[in-house]
Amino acid sequence: MALRNLIPKPAIQARIKSMAREIEQALALGELDVLILLKGAFLFGSDLVRNLEKVQSVHFAQPKSYRGDAKTAGQLEWHGPQSLENKAPTILILDEILDTGATLARAKKEMQSSGFDRVLTAVLLRKNRSEPPVIEADFVGFEIPDHFVVGFGLDYGEKFRHLDGIFILEPEEALHDR
Ligand code: IMP
Ligand code: MG
Repeated sequence: MALRNLIPKPAIQARIKSMAREIEQALALGELDVLILLKGAFLFGSDLVRNLEKVQSVHFAQPKSYRGDAKTAGQLEWHGPQSLENKAPTILILDEILDTGATLARAKKEMQSSGFDRVLTAVLLRKNRSEPPVIEADFVGFEIPDHFVVGFGLDYGEKFRHLDGIFILEPEEALHDR
């Protein structure tokens, strides 16, 4: 299986640090809660929260998406955080990649109906698709070309999440492997 390096570890670490500064400066935030979307954002989330100073609580949700075809998002099941008590005024939703935007749109809606005054979103990667996503993120780490990528939380059939960098899974190989 061919993996082509797209974003090396030091660039990811540097960008996560600068994103944390952007988030804090742009919004002059008070205390905030963070919602990490599993599984994909587990590494992005754990690195980003350690660079944010005013985190009150960290929550997790596990949305499950069933992929549609290349153009339409599949069905999405929401498995949200069990309890959101003693909320901060703001919640920051973290996902690893913005593709169709279906996941982030759903997460934002869920957090709005949970009663947060302000719901912000940050993604490590935003795919430059021909069809724009249904929602934009407030903070984006890297814009990437429309390729299937793995590593740093992103998987292909549950593989490659642990890789310390973002890699393009070469499409011929991906098809061959199915
Ligand atoms: P959405 O289409 O924006 O809702 O993205 C849904 C989910 O699809 C993401 O959170 C990822 O889990 C997955 N996904 C989208 N693009 C890729 C990719 O290039 N590699 C691995 N997973 C992806
Ligand atoms: Mg995801």
